[in-house]
Formats: sequence, C-alpha cells, structure tokens
Amino acid sequence: MQEQDFVIKPGDVIQVKTLSPLYREEYTAEILSIRDCTLQTSMPVHQGKLALLGAGIPVDLLCVRNGFSFASEVVSRVFKPNPHLILRLPYSLCKKQRQMPRVITVTSGKGGVGKTTFTINLAISLAELGQRVFIIDADLGTANIDVLLNLHPKYNLTHIINKEKELLDIIVEGPGGIHVIPGGSGLQYLANMEDRQFDYLISNLQMLEQYADIIIIDTGAGLSKNVINFVLAADSVIVVTTPEPHSITDAYAIMKVLDEHKFNTSPYLLLNKVDSLKEYQDISSKIIEVANRFLSLKISALGYILEDPVVPKANRRLVPFFLEYPDAAATRCVKNIAQQLLNPEKELQPLVNNRNFFSKIKDLFNR
Ligand SMILES: Nc1ncnc2c1ncn2[C@@H]1O[C@H](COP(=O)(O)OP(=O)(O)O)[C@@H](O)[C@H]1O
Ligand SMILES: [Mg+2]
Repeated sequence: MQEQDFVIKPGDVIQVKTLSPLYREEYTAEILSIRDCTLQTSMPVHQGKLALLGAGIPVDLLCVRNGFSFASEVVSRVFKPNPHLILRLPYSLCKKQRQMPRVITVTSGKGGVGKTTFTINLAISLAELGQRVFIIDADLGTANIDVLLNLHPKYNLTHIINKEKELLDIIVEGPGGIHVIPGGSGLQYLANMEDRQFDYLISNLQMLEQYADIIIIDTGAGLSKNVINFVLAADSVIVVTTPEPHSITDAYAIMKVLDEHKFNTSPYLLLNKVDSLKEYQDISSKIIEVANRFLSLKISALGYILEDPVVPKANRRLVPFFLEYPDAAATRCVKNIAQQLLNPEKELQPLVNNRNFFSKIKDLFNR
C-alpha cells in the first residue's frame, strides 16, 4: 500500500479533546503505531501536564498535519515499558488501515487441558480491547464451543463442507461481542477430512477476512492431519499445557511436529491450571530450554492461567468466566494474555498471586 493511502500515520501529531470535565484542555499526542483497529499514541499532554485518560473515555481527535478529525475512544492506558494510550480507530478508517486478520490456532497434545475454555474467554477479552473476534470451532471430533456458550446454532461447519450453507449463514453471535463458527458435535467422520474437503472449507473461511481482526481456531488435541493443517495455516499457534507431566510431554511432541513441518513463527506456550507464578516460571523455562536445545523453533512464553474454581463453575452454568467473574484470578490472567498478544513488545506483567493459603504453603515447601 502507498503511503498516501493512509489518512494518518505514525509520527503524526494529533490534538485530543475529551468531554470529560476532568480533562477540559486540548491535549496533544503523537501517533506511535497503528495496528489492527487501534491507534497507539504517546500520553496526551497540555503545557507539560499529562492527561491520564482511562479506558472508555470518548475523545475527539484531529490530525495536525492534514486537519482530518474523527471520534474515538480510549481502549486502554499502558505504563510499561513506555507509557502510551491505545485508542480505537473508527470502523471506516480501520478498513483502510487494516491488514489481514490475524489467525491464531489453539492446540494441545493432550485433551482436557482447557483449550476451549481459554479460546472463548481470550476471544471475549480481545473483543473488549476493540478487536473484531471470530472463533472457529475446529475440534471436528467433539466440537463444543456452542455447548459451552449455550448457543444452539442451527447450522455448523458440516453444512459448509456438505455445501448446504454459506459461511454467513452459520455465524452466530456469542457473548461479549464475539462471533462463533460452530463446529457441529459428534461428526467424527470429519475428523479426517480429505484434502479436497479441507481446501473447500478453508476457502470458505477465507471470507471471514473481510469481517475479522482476529480469528481464533480451537482445535482438537493431538496430531491428526486436520489439526496439523489448521496449525500450519495459522499466523500463530498457542500450545496449551497444564503442569501435569503427561500434558507437557504431549505439548512438546506438538512443538516437535511444528519444527519438522518448518512452521514459520515461534509458537506460544500457555500454561493452564497453574498453582502460582513460580510454578509457571519453572515449567515454562524448562520447556523452552529443552526446545531451544533440540528444536530450531523458538518458543515464546505467552503466560499462564491460574487454576481457579470459577472456571468449572462458570462452565457448568454455560457462561464465560470472563464475563461472570470479572475480578477472578483466571480473568485477570486472560486479560494479561490478551494484552500480550496485542502488544508483543510489552513485558508480561507479573500477576499478583492471590492463591489461597494452602497453595502458598505448597510453594514454600517446593522451593
Ligand atoms: N484455569 C482453570 N482452572 C480450573 N479449571 C479449568 C481451568 N481451565 C479449564 N478448566 C477445566 O478443565 C476442563 C477441560 O476444559 P476444556 O476447555 O474443555 O479443555 P479442552 O478443550 O482442552 O479439552 C473443564 O472442566 C474446565 O472447566
Ligand atoms: Mg475442547
């Protein structure tokens, strides 16, 4: 794309006005970067005074270079490593500025490690940060995103593969502004689709590019051909494991397969159901160390989710814990991961471990 195609660009100075009575002045800020549907700017200042605008504050922006003005909103305020604001881009601009959606596949070696639960709640967290998020339920053996979200969709991916429906017919709206492409339960025969069927499915899913900023694909566990295809087709892959030794060995096996297939980006490692920050650090550093020694892939640690009783509780009630328990430890962990995915340069904030007495004691004994 040519530079003149961009209405605003990094380096531009913008004037920021708010309707908030706390911040009546006209502030200026510099555009640091434009990514997906957001604008990263320096903290707005007025005569050397910073405006610490919080998330949700509506702002009017004006580009000093070309006088272009538009309404926006603060998505979040980031202090580390460099203080900056994240502002939402209006949809019309977003289309001009936007690139292809980011496709993230979530996978694991072993089943039951929390992939589906994580996918749903991460999607909602990313949507809260202003992203248009679609989930594809590609666990073609035992698809259950619709079940966990109590959605009762009429159609699913099998209707596409059987050429009975178009992609737009099967998309359903989920909670928290996310969109879901249901997989259809119990259709085991699809778990080993022929290449021709897979190509047809992927070319249909490509239509999502016009609508999505981020597409998250929830796959089944293990190394079936479909799972590998979905992983290799994605921009990034998140390998989920729990601290359980079996789960770790199986996660490593997935990474080995990615390495053999010359997967082109570094897979993210996510530790679920951990007891403490320390447990996460110990295990992830060990996995990364082994991978660095034996694989040519570089693994990045994406973060962790604490084992939290609100997770199964929310799952049983068919609601996302992220929405039902906004202050829960697991929710804060997911928020951290969503931020990390959108701002890879930002350091992962160590979470304050709010585990109960018993797990703290366990940590102390394990030192
Ligand atoms: N962080 C967590 N803390 C406690 N329980 C969890 C956590 N993450 C997932 N679970 C539970 O683990 C089980 C498996 O989760 P699920 O998302 O279905 O895994 P998968 O998709 O990998 O098979 C569910 O009962 C879920 O409630
Ligand atoms: Mg699952």
